[in-house]
Amino acid sequence: MYKQKLLISQQFLFDKIQSMNTDDYKEAVKQLNIYAHHYYVLDDALTTDEVYDKLYHEVLDYETQHPDETLVESPTQRVGDIITDKFYKAEHLSRMWSLEDIFNNDDLETWLIKTHKLDENISFYCEPKYDGASLNLIYENGELLKGITRGDGSIGEEITLNVKTIKSIPLKIEHLDLIEIRGEVVIMKSDFEMMNQQRAKNDEDLFANPRNVAAGSLRLLDSSITAKRKLVFLPYGIGVNSLEQKFLDQRMEYIYALGFKKPPYAAKAKEFKEIQEIYNQMNKDRDSYSMMLDGMVIKVNEISAQIDMGYTVKNPRWAVAYKFPAIEKITTIKEIKLQVGRSGVVTPVAVVEPTDIDGVVVERATLHNFDEIERKDIRLGDKVIILRSGDVIPKIIKVLVHERSGSEVKFEKPSLCPVCHTELLQEDVLIKCQNLSCEARVVNSILYFASKPCLNIDGLGIKIVEALFNSGLIKSVIDLFDLTLEQLLSLEGFKEKKSQNLLDALQNAKGCEHWRFINALGIEHIGEVASKTLSAEFGFGFVKATKEQIIECDGIGEEMAESVLEFVRVNKETIAALHTILQPKEPTKKI
Ligand code: IVH
Repeated sequence: MYKQKLLISQQFLFDKIQSMNTDDYKEAVKQLNIYAHHYYVLDDALTTDEVYDKLYHEVLDYETQHPDETLVESPTQRVGDIITDKFYKAEHLSRMWSLEDIFNNDDLETWLIKTHKLDENISFYCEPKYDGASLNLIYENGELLKGITRGDGSIGEEITLNVKTIKSIPLKIEHLDLIEIRGEVVIMKSDFEMMNQQRAKNDEDLFANPRNVAAGSLRLLDSSITAKRKLVFLPYGIGVNSLEQKFLDQRMEYIYALGFKKPPYAAKAKEFKEIQEIYNQMNKDRDSYSMMLDGMVIKVNEISAQIDMGYTVKNPRWAVAYKFPAIEKITTIKEIKLQVGRSGVVTPVAVVEPTDIDGVVVERATLHNFDEIERKDIRLGDKVIILRSGDVIPKIIKVLVHERSGSEVKFEKPSLCPVCHTELLQEDVLIKCQNLSCEARVVNSILYFASKPCLNIDGLGIKIVEALFNSGLIKSVIDLFDLTLEQLLSLEGFKEKKSQNLLDALQNAKGCEHWRFINALGIEHIGEVASKTLSAEFGFGFVKATKEQIIECDGIGEEMAESVLEFVRVNKETIAALHTILQPKEPTKKI
């Protein structure tokens, strides 16, 4: 029903607004639903917020004047300004089952043998197992009648008002028979992160994971808060229905065509090997999905076979959840180490009891900053849940306060730099070492200077830089270019070849691209993209650019511009000296 393109031009709509009649109103509601469907279900915006909002308000005005004409599918009916004092129990029309879990290929093989014994000629439909909260939607005469939480599978809580605020749930569908559409309510990982960042700013407790946000948000008594939570509904099944399609994948296609969101990936398979491959791929890609997945669901695709196979007391015999390896584990905080970065920021890092998470032994977890330790009340000796997800550094998501024995020790914020022992300065949530010659700052600036997106100098790893610094041969990046073969050979572990290679790599850095030169300076807030912009806009003249000129550049804001000016003011001589040594190539295309 939503496949059609724009029904009417935006200009036409605006012209009509002054004198909306019933037909215009109906048309406008249809149009708003097309916009919303494209935005929330198809991830393909057709217009801007401004256009949408303008039309929405016109519709709202019309409804205020003609309340009896208000259509059930009008987006104004999602508002969520109602506060309930409790939720009422409601019965599902047919039971919401749970799934049997399997964990490895042996379990999969056993399950496949079992299902094939029940019916030899079956195929399978594989889709992600979303990690959220399950929800049953009942539609009658094409209208969303009720939204009910899973509860015990037979009776849940009616949360229709909250459900109506979820934009990926159509209020009206083009299917008039009674139907139950089941699915998972989730919050996308990026929205979850943003939400927690905002909560941290407001000094509110953080949510442990996206699943808790989804489940908690559905059961809020104030639906205006649910409306703000960016929840998404992903259908995975059908309860009571009168559908005639003989295969599950066809039925699901029908559901998506009614206006529901498609899974990010789904595939049909026949054999053990195919299922295994789909599973391996999904597990490998799980970090790249926008929502949290905790496994893959395998379902028999033939509806007649599903009916024949039936159910055990708890689960369908025709479906199974092949879980992904856990990425959350419980471990203990042994120590909190302090790291000093090149800008002097001191970052706490938790050293934890080594724990195997999906084949990788985790020994450290990031703590971000000292406020986070305080907010989460993390103590030495605490049992915590850590999460390892892809390449991201593992993080602590929860302290198991109830497991405390009393011997846990509170962590004191440091007042002295752990490396150079000079006094630390608190700047907002950050604590900084002010000493420009602090070993950690110098070593890390040199490592940054030599890194890939800067001068890409091979052979300057942390061990070598520390050795060069500790021997007194280098105090800053400039000293790197005065190193001699004799000096290097005097250091422990430096043989002729390794030393010569390093000297060659340093020579090769000369004549580098100009943006690399800017990036290597390590100006706060100025990374690779901004360095390229500054280089292209100003060439060698970037040191003379004014704040106004810099702000005019694409993607560069006031804070970045101020950072450039301050850096140039303080480091004029160093920049000039490095320029003379490195002789970067001036970009040709500069303004
Ligand atoms: S099918 C009869 N498919 O997992 C089939 N469930 O342990 C019943 N879930 O309560 C469920 N993604 O909340 C199914 N693609 C998916 C799912 C899924 C997540 C949840 C659902 C259910 C639980 C079962």
